Amino acid sequence: MAARVSTAFSIPMLMILFITLVYEAHAEFPQPTGRQTTYVFYLQDTTTGPNATVAAVAGIKGRNWNFNTFGSMFVVDDPVTVGPSPSSAIVGRAQGMLVVSSRDGTNVNAVLSVVFSSWQYNGSTLELQGINRQNENVRTLSVVSGTGQFRFARGYAALQTVAYDPVSARSTVRFTITLQI
Ligand SMILES: *[C@@H]1O[C@H](CO)[C@@H](O)[C@H](O)[C@H]1NC(C)=O
Ligand SMILES: *[C@@H]1O[C@H](CO)[C@@H](O)[C@H](O)[C@H]1NC(C)=O
Repeated sequence: MAARVSTAFSIPMLMILFITLVYEAHAEFPQPTGRQTTYVFYLQDTTTGPNATVAAVAGIKGRNWNFNTFGSMFVVDDPVTVGPSPSSAIVGRAQGMLVVSSRDGTNVNAVLSVVFSSWQYNGSTLELQGINRQNENVRTLSVVSGTGQFRFARGYAALQTVAYDPVSARSTVRFTITLQI
């Protein structure tokens, strides 16, 4: 009985000592602070024409491969700009895949990398994943990770269409990324 009590007590004590030693050994590592940082960018998305940035690459045989058809798969390479104007400075590109993944055609599963090419974030990426609920005004994706300056990033990205030009088939989507650093 006495031995059991002593064991149950001494293991946590050893663990606390061990954790303390590990913390002291890595004291230079940044500690989570719960601080949030928000970035606002714009996606410039062109669906048709010679400069299309989205292309349907697969789908269910015999059906139209569009954004309302279950099973349709798209590859994306959208410029990401600092301002809403398509001619504003490009900070990178959103590259990846979209799959219409609900049978009623309303939800699109997105797997996107934001590949930064200018600014202080050149060479870094943010990895986004989640369900794009097409009928909602503001759609939210998870930020699951990143590379370079965004290593271990986590947070979420809100997408809201702010402009659509039917002549060029181009839409501008405000892209608000909130990260916990
Ligand atoms: C496609 O892009 C090229 C090069 O930027 C431009 O000259 C051309 O006008 C664009 N075409 C359309 C249809 O927007
Ligand atoms: C970004 O990095 C690439 C590769 O290192 C380099 O070639 C390019 O000039 C850089 N661009 C900017 C805007 O710094």
